[in-house]
Amino acid sequence: FHFAAPANEPVYSYAPGSPEKVALKKQLSAFKAQQADIPMYINNQEIRTGKTVDLRPPHEIKHKLGHFHMGEASHINDAIAAALAAKEQWAATPWEQRAGIFLKAAELIATKYRYHMNAATMLGQSKNAYQAEIDSACELIDFLRYNVHFLSEIYKQQPVSSPGVHNRTEYRPLEGFVLAVTPFNFTAIAGNLPTSAAMCGNVVVWKPADTQVFAANMFMQIMIEAGLPAGVINLIYVDGPQLGDICFSHPEFAGIHFTGSTAVFQHMWQTIGQNIKKYKAYPRIVGETGGKDFVLAHSSADVAVTAIALARGAFEYQGQKCSAASRAYLPSNIAEAVKTRLLAELKTMKMGSVEDFSNFINAVIDERSFDKITNYIENAKKDPAAKIIAGGNYSKTEGYFIEPTVIEVTDPKYVTMCEEIFGPVLTIYTYDADKFEEIISVVDSSSSYALTGSIIAQDRYAIDLATKKLVNAAGNFYINDKPTGAVVGQQPFGGARASGTNDKAGSMLNLYRWLSARTIKETL
Ligand code: ALA
Repeated sequence: FHFAAPANEPVYSYAPGSPEKVALKKQLSAFKAQQADIPMYINNQEIRTGKTVDLRPPHEIKHKLGHFHMGEASHINDAIAAALAAKEQWAATPWEQRAGIFLKAAELIATKYRYHMNAATMLGQSKNAYQAEIDSACELIDFLRYNVHFLSEIYKQQPVSSPGVHNRTEYRPLEGFVLAVTPFNFTAIAGNLPTSAAMCGNVVVWKPADTQVFAANMFMQIMIEAGLPAGVINLIYVDGPQLGDICFSHPEFAGIHFTGSTAVFQHMWQTIGQNIKKYKAYPRIVGETGGKDFVLAHSSADVAVTAIALARGAFEYQGQKCSAASRAYLPSNIAEAVKTRLLAELKTMKMGSVEDFSNFINAVIDERSFDKITNYIENAKKDPAAKIIAGGNYSKTEGYFIEPTVIEVTDPKYVTMCEEIFGPVLTIYTYDADKFEEIISVVDSSSSYALTGSIIAQDRYAIDLATKKLVNAAGNFYINDKPTGAVVGQQPFGGARASGTNDKAGSMLNLYRWLSARTIKETL
């Protein structure tokens, strides 16, 4: 069985008057008119505990979308037991048959549930229609289809045999269960982390972020409709530390597929290390954990290209992409022109509810994020070393709204040039245009992260120098573009250093981590 490289799922524009806009609006209204009662799924059975948490759109906190049911320790144990019970049969299911389920799920999203997935992501995570489309429709569909393709490529790779000797590699799933802990900011990532491991024949316990449950629930329903057998992926909403305590001390813990904060990932790694003697096999630890992504412009950079890369790179989805541009280094010869153009660009970005499709900026995810982000803004306002040149206002009356904010600093190591903020805040530093080499080392040393970054230049020498010297500063490096928006199959995504294990999502490199090969030599 071989599944050829698919084409990327075409992106709908949701232009005014388009049929897809009408359909998406209808789905938004339908979700808003109902009160969702969202269960956990263990063994494909809906579990309702009665201990509920309300769901509200971050941009309209007075409206209740419904609630989800929280589980406790017993549900974590039940999810693990269900996964382990499903394991043997799932691992023995022919690959062609397993693949069909994930391809069917992709097809269901593309043709039947596209608007459900997008509306759920828009309302639950405050993403505008276009940002939802490239995430919960296209990227998720692409993950499912491309991973089937990549896995079929992996399975084909076999060792050499010789007369009298037949060698083969069996790509087994891991022994035990895999834990997927997924973030709020991409429905595609939330869907990819459990499915990429499951595709390889693994069984999974999946805990999404509380703020992403609305769309996670939708996706789980689609997986079940696509034919996912009971117990292969078990979706639970539980306390994170409790989940860690139980899973990381289980002898059958086989691996963690994580996207989230560096602190949580490091804590997980330490706990796994402390428990290492308990496990049957060494667990796989795969994580993507944030960034402090840069845009470095050279004196030869095009002003408009730089300004657009900053506007879109920093403020799409309110800067809540791990890939978001959050520190800019502008050369003195064009800095003023870039800032003028950037500020003009920001004036065109309307802020408000996702239901008005002309809004570019929506709300940040929750009050904790709002408080953390606005704290950085307040500190900058008080600090003579920083100057706010755009935005700076915010309100949490209707929803968690923060204006796109640009801070200008004179110290390239200023706190907002170095720390991850995860919100709509861009900090700009202007360097002496003649000191390009020096600024490259500042870019490299200002952050412990290494996820994404861009060089904007027309001079080929500058492009080559930055590409060479920033070799370890970003796992995804962009030339003359914003540092966000990696497309599955085109730009495998992930970073090293404090940004994670760099097991590129949507690539063979990631899938290998969920396989444990057995070499078989047969003497003929
Ligand atoms: N894949 C997402 C991006 O590149 C995180 O923006």
